[in-house]
Amino acid sequence: MLIRPETPKDYEQIYQLIKSAFANSEHSDGTEQDLVERLRRSSSFIPELALVAEIKGEIVGYILFTQVRIGENIELSLAPLAVLPSIQKQGVGKALIKQGHEIAKQLECHYAIVLGNPDYYGKLGYQPARQFQITAPFEIDDTFFMVFELNPPQNNVKGVVQYADEFGI
Ligand SMILES: CC(C)(COP(=O)(O)OP(=O)(O)OC[C@H]1O[C@@H](n2cnc3c(N)ncnc32)[C@H](O)[C@@H]1OP(=O)(O)O)[C@@H](O)C(=O)NCCC(=O)NCCS
Repeated sequence: MLIRPETPKDYEQIYQLIKSAFANSEHSDGTEQDLVERLRRSSSFIPELALVAEIKGEIVGYILFTQVRIGENIELSLAPLAVLPSIQKQGVGKALIKQGHEIAKQLECHYAIVLGNPDYYGKLGYQPARQFQITAPFEIDDTFFMVFELNPPQNNVKGVVQYADEFGI
């Protein structure tokens, strides 16, 4: 499996992949693929952190981290992560997250934030955001709002996460 940054010729495959991955997901509004198209045009977009997983020339997974603000700090939001339904639970999601974290660490961000399933993200080192005094800008059971520490912060990074406008929050 190859993990690499997306290129414009991948966009259509990525769109279809995200749509099919979220089609049966209970916590989805079915528009994650459109969110990605908006985020690509946003100032929060970081090209090095839009990654595809490819097997034999086919895109089987996608991950995107974009910038969010916490106070004066620029941090990251992981959204979305999608794996082709036919090869889920074979390590593709985990590999994308790990590769994304390695790149993100070099960008010197402190935290990656995710809204998702704690059983899944907990296995990958995400912890409840409340432990870091980081909170969501919306009502949510706080076990679903998690952070991964990329680099220990020098100053206090805490407060409400401000998402890019493209999230529509
Ligand atoms: C969630 C998703 C990205 C996971 O990708 P994946 O490639 O299937 O997951 P992996 O194979 O890397 O799984 C890593 C670990 O998590 C476990 N796992 C996978 N899906 C899980 C789930 N839904 N709940 C709990 N654990 C899960 C795996 O068994 C594996 O455990 P192990 O390391 O102990 O063997 C994928 O199922 C998907 O695209 N789902 C639909 C879209 C979605 O919900 N995205 C996440 C939005 S926040």
